[in-house]
This record gives sequence, structure tokens and C-alpha cells, in this order.
Amino acid sequence: MENSRIPLLFSGSSQIPLAQEVAAELNISLGSISLDKFPDGETSIEILEDVLNRTVFVLQSTVLDTNNYLIELLLIVDALKRSGAKTICAIIPYFGYSRQDRKDRCGVPISAKLVANMLSAAGITHLITFDLHSSQLEGFFEIPVIHLHCQKLLGDEALKLLEKEFTIVVPDIGSIKIVKKLSQLVNINFVVIEKQRLSSKEVKMNLIGNLSTKSILIVDDICSTAGTLIAAASLCRNLGVEQIVVAVTHAICCGDALQKIESSPIQSLIVTNSVPPFNRFSNSSKIHIVSIAPMIAEAIKSICNF
Ligand code: R5P
Repeated sequence: MENSRIPLLFSGSSQIPLAQEVAAELNISLGSISLDKFPDGETSIEILEDVLNRTVFVLQSTVLDTNNYLIELLLIVDALKRSGAKTICAIIPYFGYSRQDRKDRCGVPISAKLVANMLSAAGITHLITFDLHSSQLEGFFEIPVIHLHCQKLLGDEALKLLEKEFTIVVPDIGSIKIVKKLSQLVNINFVVIEKQRLSSKEVKMNLIGNLSTKSILIVDDICSTAGTLIAAASLCRNLGVEQIVVAVTHAICCGDALQKIESSPIQSLIVTNSVPPFNRFSNSSKIHIVSIAPMIAEAIKSICNF
């Protein structure tokens, strides 16, 4: 096969196991790269492959150690551009700062827009990403954005765990769009919970509509502190629901979120591997991880015609 059609995949330091999984799906080896720190803490990277005129992919989630991973990604892209790569596609399974996508009060930045500008300035020519907090973020770029959705992947796993009769619950009006897709796929109705955010850690919930099943699937895009999911699950439990399964694309689960989930009414939490590291979940009996590697591999194949 023509060399230029064989993708070259590099991994930043956040997502090496996922990148290896993608490489295995494509039957290629990961591109050779040195990722290090200078003694003063600055990031040092070096591309150790010939990338001249090649279609190159860089996989990095910008989450948890967000700023460090973002800078590393920007430097990798800069190095690839200066080494003559023909196209540079950033694969960012979790796009850090995506929740800061508008100026909702005076004095705050639109961080997601700034990050988009920085990635474009560094030289990315394509972006592959998953379940962005809002689709409008695609418009922050002037390059092709391949925005992939995980509802089918999560829904298939959820169907293995749920009773025959269940209702889908949306814990946040902002997530209605993604839930509509899932609801259509599995042909199951959904109800909405109106969420009022009291602080970054506290939320108040109010169910709109009726819950008539003893089993529910709560669907959201992100689990950060788990405050939203646990408040929604507790509300539904108080309304008589017995089985509570949750599906979220991005399991940030920061702070003590995982411990809180363990002692909550949530029975199972289905997540993707968009947010590393995965050994965080090894003590949890409730987490089921589904892999986005095949979806990434398919997107890579479609870009390179591989
Ligand atoms: C909110 O707009 C998102 O869809 C999630 O509901 C939210 O980010 C979850 O955050 P937390 O887990 O901290 O409640």
C-alpha cells in the first residue's frame, strides 16, 4: 500500500493504553516519540519518525491533568508541522475546557474557544472528538471536526443490564439532544429532570413528567463530581425506582466521586475509556467500561482511506 495512506498514530502521555488499542485495531505500531520533562518542569517532546508528507494522528485526552496534557499536545502538533506532516489530526476523546463554552457572566473567558484557537494555531488540520458538551463547539474550528457519539455503544451495554421495561431519565435539560438519539435507537421513552445548580458541588432536582417503571437508565455526557448523577438517582429512588443504571460518555469522576457512587443508589455505571487512567476504576464493583478504540480506528480509516 502507498505509504501516504498508512496512518501514523502518536500518543500523548495521557492515553497510551487507548492509543495502543487503536493501533492494534489498525494493525499498525504506535509512532515513536519521546515525551519527557526538562529539569525545570517544562515539557520536552521529540518526534522520532519521518513524518514528511504523511497523514498523522495524535491521541490525547485533555483532562484531569488538563493543562499539562494540553501543552504536550500543542507541542507535539507543532513538532509534526515543522517536520513536514501533510495532515495532522488531533484525536481528543475528552476535550478539556469544553464546558466553558460561553460567556455567561462578565469577567469570565470563553476557554473552549481559546483552546480551539490554540490547537488551530499549532497546526491541526482535523479533529476527532467524542460527545462534546455542546455541538456548537464544532463551530469554534475552521477545520473538519469529526464529532462522534457514544450513545449506541453505551446503550448496547445498558440493554444487557436493564430489566425489559425501563425509562430513560435525562438529569440535565442540556443533555436532551444526546438522549433523544438513544431514545430513538432503543425505542424507549424518556423523562427529564430539571437541574438547578446551587454551587459547583451542589444541585437541586425536580422531575418533569411521570416515572411508571421500576427500572431506569440515567444518561448524561459527563460525570465530574458525580453530584448530578447521584442527586438524580436519589430522587428516582425516593419515587420508588428499584433498578438504577447510569450511562455517561466521560467519566472524569474527580475527587471522591467514585466513593460517593459506591454508596449511592446507582447500581451500575457504564462509561467509556475517554478519560484515563483506567486503574482508578479497579476498586469499583459498579463500573463497566466500554472501549471507543474501534470507533477511533474507523474514523482514522475514513480520513486516510486506509
Ligand atoms: C452538565 O451540564 C453536564 O451535562 C453534566 O451533568 C455535569 O457536567 C456533571 O457534573 P457533576 O458530575 O459535577 O455534577
